[in-house]
Amino acid sequence: MKELEIVIRPEKLEDIKTILDEVNCGGMTLSTVMGCGTQKGISDEGEGVNEFKGLKTTINLLPKVKVEVVVEDSDMEKIIEKVRETCATDHVGDGKIFIKDVMEVVRIRTGERGLKAL
Ligand SMILES: Nc1ncnc2c1ncn2[C@@H]1O[C@H](COP(=O)(O)OP(=O)(O)OP(=O)(O)O)[C@@H](O)[C@H]1O
Ligand SMILES: [Mg+2]
Repeated sequence: MKELEIVIRPEKLEDIKTILDEVNCGGMTLSTVMGCGTQKGISDEGEGVNEFKGLKTTINLLPKVKVEVVVEDSDMEKIIEKVRETCATDHVGDGKIFIKDVMEVVRIRTGERGLKAL
């Protein structure tokens, strides 16, 4: 099992939900977060200045959505491909997918483990 931590633009939230629904994922966890990548929060569309409430900052953080989903290994590449298809724009700041191995999952209600518990 793999955990995909998908950080995307907030406006892509509905697209991500559709993609994960299409692969019948067992669940997902979503957070609204603030973040920056290599441009330190300055977009190429004039969004973000190195100033926050009048105070100068070296790094500006932009709102992003983070979706964490644990899936079977065989679903991973399909999801990555679909996320790239729908979330890539011509602009910096489209986000990233961090991929981690998941050792075990336990469904608390039943005690089921592994793929059965996803
Ligand atoms: N190395 C990282 N560690 C943790 N979070 C990151 C990292 N890189 C990016 N993120 C998260 O992903 C969001 C989007 O990153 P972003 O797409 O700007 O990455 P990038 O490397 O600058 O790529 P691009 O050049 O396409 O903008 C950030 O706001 C942050 O929340
Ligand atoms: Mg960036």
